[in-house]
Amino acid sequence: MTVYRLTKELVFPPPELADDDGLLAIGVAVGFAIVSSIIALLALLAGEQHGYALMQRVAELHTERRELLADIIVRASEPWIETAPGMAWTKVLFTGAESGRWVALYRWNKGYVAPAHKHLSAAHTYVLKGRLQVRDGILEAGDYDYEPNGVLHGETTALEDTEYLFVCDGPVVFYDANGLVAYKGWEELQRLKEAASAKAAAARATAAGAAAS
Ligand SMILES: [Fe+2]
Repeated sequence: MTVYRLTKELVFPPPELADDDGLLAIGVAVGFAIVSSIIALLALLAGEQHGYALMQRVAELHTERRELLADIIVRASEPWIETAPGMAWTKVLFTGAESGRWVALYRWNKGYVAPAHKHLSAAHTYVLKGRLQVRDGILEAGDYDYEPNGVLHGETTALEDTEYLFVCDGPVVFYDANGLVAYKGWEELQRLKEAASAKAAAARATAAGAAAS
């Protein structure tokens, strides 16, 4: 095996390669590098925005409608919405009008019981803190649970003060011995969020009015 020492005396190409085959290989490599550079430059001049020569055009399509490209960020400071006095709260993170998917955080105090329900879509649960009694098992902090579309579930109970992330691909219906009692989908979550925002805005206006008088 030949070992080349990186010293000032290093000759490039090494004498062992300075024959016709070696020069040919170097020439091909240099030529390839030049052609690649020209292609990359042409791609840049053609309007690729990110500076990479890609296999296809990936420029943003809706540049005239920036709202379609905007991130949706829910700050940690977003207030919880109380849904059962002193026992249950929700923070709506995402409602998808096109897909029907919705994402929410739930906070249940120890002892809260959610009614039996049927999943009309798949759902994903990730427990952030606390413990949840689900069917014949217990979900603890750090546990993940996938619930298939169509499954019937009994009551869910918070065994401790619990918070969990819920990603739902569509609606869930709740029922009791007499039949269906509630329907929850992305529209209900959106209405809940809008109602809470309106209530908070009214409270701020009232407070501002009181401060001004
Ligand atoms: Fe469920």
